[in-house]
Amino acid sequence: QNSSFVRIVEVGPRDGLQNEPTNVPTDVKIDFINRLSSTGLKTIEVTSFVSPKWVPQMADNADVFKGITKETAIDYPVLVPNLKGLEAAVNAGVKEIAVFASASDGFSKKNVNCTAEEGVQIIKKVTEAALNKYNLKVRGYVSCVVGCPYDGYIKPSAVTKITEALLNLGCYEISLGDTIGVGTRNSIQDMLKDVLKVSTPDKLAIHCHDTYGQALVNVLTALEFGLTVADSSVSGLGGCPYAKGASGNVATEDLVYMLQGLGVETGVDLKKLIEIGHFISSVLKKPTGSKPYLQTPLK
Ligand code: HMG
Ligand code: MG
Repeated sequence: QNSSFVRIVEVGPRDGLQNEPTNVPTDVKIDFINRLSSTGLKTIEVTSFVSPKWVPQMADNADVFKGITKETAIDYPVLVPNLKGLEAAVNAGVKEIAVFASASDGFSKKNVNCTAEEGVQIIKKVTEAALNKYNLKVRGYVSCVVGCPYDGYIKPSAVTKITEALLNLGCYEISLGDTIGVGTRNSIQDMLKDVLKVSTPDKLAIHCHDTYGQALVNVLTALEFGLTVADSSVSGLGGCPYAKGASGNVATEDLVYMLQGLGVETGVDLKKLIEIGHFISSVLKKPTGSKPYLQTPLK
């Protein structure tokens, strides 16, 4: 890796809680996000303004967004699928949105009920309004960058095509999502080599799910390619209800521990994160997916 600072985008409150069978009360979500705001994280994805018929876990999006204490040094993006979601997000006071497209048609149809190309056309309208009418920051996601639960392995060129489209629409950064966590060092390298034909590394982020235990290796691989932004989820929460087999994101605790070992700054307090991992795991009544959680720190 060749950067001394990595920005972590904490996606637990969105990617994590969207996939939990337990109903987390709105005030607990607010408490969770406020605690995360005290750790030194620079970006926390708060919720999604998607259809509550599709993802009931995020139905309290506006209340959560309005309820959290916003720190001036932190960005609080929300996921938005269409113009309806954009209007609702703007009404709640959102300043940054994340749009999402897929490198595969199979996942796109299951997730947003249209093909990948149709999805880009919807995102075009959302992004134009967000940038020109509402003056928001727009982050982009490309999902299924290595494999799709419905279409199988995905060619790097398909990822590059969607990434280029989202960059051209004005997204300031594209997060490359290994949605179902099937990536390995080699497949992530092949994908990044192709995507870097159309983007510089500073406009890319890596978003790894840990289904096969490869997420940390895959993040490290991305850092070696010059990327300096990684998405993760405290306690390893995460998954997508429309991606069969998707497991949690790489745990933020594990990621911070790895980066500390590499001498890379994140600005994030690992001890506080571990405490928040305990907190959210007890709310969800399940063991944490992070490893540092189990350990007593060395003196
Ligand atoms: P649809 O059924 O084709 O659209 O869904 P529709 O326009 O017919 O809407 C259906 C109903 O939802 C209507 O209500 C709409 O008004 C309403 P009705 O008329 O039946 O009463 N509706 C909305 N309500 C609130 N907010 C909205 C909204 N839009 C419509 N924004 C749609 C299409 C895109 C809406 C739907 O498929 C959807 O919401 N999908 C989101 C699925 C989702 O959130 N997936 C998880 C996030 S992606 C992910 O996790 C991957 C990522 O982490 C990266 C990675 O890991 O790779 C980002
Ligand atoms: Mg995800």
